[in-house]
Amino acid sequence: MAVKSIRFMNTLSACASSRVASVASGRRSRLYAFTIFAAVMSLFLASLEDARAQDAKRGEHAFRKCLLCHVLDPNATNLIAPPLHNVIGRRAAIVPGFAYSEIMTLAREKGLIWNADALYYFLDKPEDFMPGTYMAFAGLEEQERKDVIAYLTKITDAYNAQQKSPAVPFGAPKSMAPIKVEPKAPSPSLANGKAKSPPAPPRP
Ligand code: HEC
Repeated sequence: MAVKSIRFMNTLSACASSRVASVASGRRSRLYAFTIFAAVMSLFLASLEDARAQDAKRGEHAFRKCLLCHVLDPNATNLIAPPLHNVIGRRAAIVPGFAYSEIMTLAREKGLIWNADALYYFLDKPEDFMPGTYMAFAGLEEQERKDVIAYLTKITDAYNAQQKSPAVPFGAPKSMAPIKVEPKAPSPSLANGKAKSPPAPPRP
């Protein structure tokens, strides 16, 4: 084992020394390449952000089809369909008071969560994904689905951010019963053992 590892180290250092020269000359061009890479990367990320914002914008338009039945108002009553203000990351069929279909209720029991993937498949052809769903909707084309998901992600993020900074900040309760520490019962080893009581003083 030790011999093997020494040989391994030698091979490594041989490789390293043969490469030292080329490393030195290549360092500058690598730095150059890295700078270009970083620049391209940041351009790419910026365009990704941009694309996402555009998707969400188009999604807002496509979402009009959903507004026929759904709302984005968490306080809405008289619902034809469950509100979708926080649907991304939400468990299926959990809006209180909404009478879901049997299959949607089963989906909740199976742990379905409405993330981008689940919505992508569901919104393709709801009836195929969930035979028996009450959602009487034919489905969306792929690009529209992506756009609607981007829009719902934006709406959900905005709603969640709002929930995290509530109007009434958290305050400590006005009064609180003091926490008592109960005295410990003597441990059995001491109670039964010899050290029960100090030895009696010798009598005169
Ligand atoms: C014709 C009315 C109608 C339209 C249009 C409609 N839905 Fe629905 N949707 C429903 C109903 C009803 C349900 C409840 C389904 C069930 O219980 O099986 C539902 C359920 C859902 C759920 C599951 C909600 C939950 O709480 O689990 C999602 C997500 C959803 N719809 C998204 C959409 C999106 C996105 C669109 C637009 C592309 C859309 N729906 C269009 C009626 C509709």
